[in-house]
Amino acid sequence: MTAPAKPPHQDSRFVRAARGERVDRVPVWFMRQAGRSLPEYRAVRGSGTILRAIADPDLATEITLQPVRRYGVDAAILYSDIMTPVHAVGFGVDIAPGVGPVVEHPFERAEDLERLRPLDPEADTPYVLATVRNLVAELPCPLIAFAGAPFTVASYLLEGRPTRTWVRTKALMHTDELLWHELMGRLTDLAIASLRSQVQAGAAALQLFDSWAGALSPQDYERFVLPHSRRVLEEVADLGVPRIHFGVSTGELLGLMADAGAGMVGVDWRTPLDVARTRVPAGTALQGNLDPALPAAGWEATEPAALDVLRRGGGRGHVFNLGHGVLPETDPSVLERLVELVHSWDPEGGDR
Ligand code: CP3
Repeated sequence: MTAPAKPPHQDSRFVRAARGERVDRVPVWFMRQAGRSLPEYRAVRGSGTILRAIADPDLATEITLQPVRRYGVDAAILYSDIMTPVHAVGFGVDIAPGVGPVVEHPFERAEDLERLRPLDPEADTPYVLATVRNLVAELPCPLIAFAGAPFTVASYLLEGRPTRTWVRTKALMHTDELLWHELMGRLTDLAIASLRSQVQAGAAALQLFDSWAGALSPQDYERFVLPHSRRVLEEVADLGVPRIHFGVSTGELLGLMADAGAGMVGVDWRTPLDVARTRVPAGTALQGNLDPALPAAGWEATEPAALDVLRRGGGRGHVFNLGHGVLPETDPSVLERLVELVHSWDPEGGDR
């Protein structure tokens, strides 16, 4: 299947800002805008695992739309998970509530590569494509496709569960570099197939989530991770949609993450946006970067910090977001006010 002649919503505020073009208002959306902070999510989500909710296109469509209706954000993000493709090819992954991805038999040796066959999106994840098609018909704004970056997905497959130390992951890269690159190559292929299929079904932009890349030194990132993430981003370039590259604690990696081929880099709250600008090539847009603990702490904590983010973002080549996902305890009314604040701020304002 080839790409649609022109992807939708390419003149939207969100896509224009992601390309560094002038906008009337700074666009805003939130990572994890759909999810447990919303009562309407808890009402429809049911008790099954999240992977089952993702496999139900009517439910996944509704959950994706909920924050767009409530907040009036400038982009929707597909309700899915970074583990969907590895789950779909039968690696044996589940997502435990309150924990995250867990793997029954973690990746250990070369034979485990066979558990990572190529993804055929139409056959393996038809529910994802059905959800994208539903959404494209219903959404007033761009839909963001996404995939887990090879490193972050590899870390779950190797560790078997969320980790704070990444010992098994680092052990493989530093003791069996050949197998490491073979594993990363398979995960790169999965990410490419998944992203291409989502964009071909009508998504207007894509984000590569390398959430845990900040666990690596720049030299390890460059040698063990960058070539694979670069291949993901290069092999989706012809689709003609903005490419966003995000990680947490990646202040020291921002230049490398831009160099991997992203037009927009996600920044967490540890690096002020004006500092982040000096670390990426001119013309790279930035997405972020309010500390997600502040909306969870209330409006009083949120407002001044959000204005600081807007000023440091500079009103051009900036998409407002949190530095990581919405925390489940966040009062949605704070995010409603935050969207209003961002949309009332004049990107051309002369007083800054
Ligand atoms: O609104 C959105 O952002 C859209 C959907 C989305 C989910 N997961 C749904 C989800 C996205 C973009 C993801 C990506 C994802 N999944 C990442 C990268 C983004 C990030 O947060 O760094 C990662 C690392 C995962 C793996 C994962 N899935 C974790 C760590 C968890 C949390 C476990 C928990 O219960 O706290 C999940 C589960 C998950 N994925 C939830 C949601 C809304 C919460 C659980 C649920 O509702 O059942």
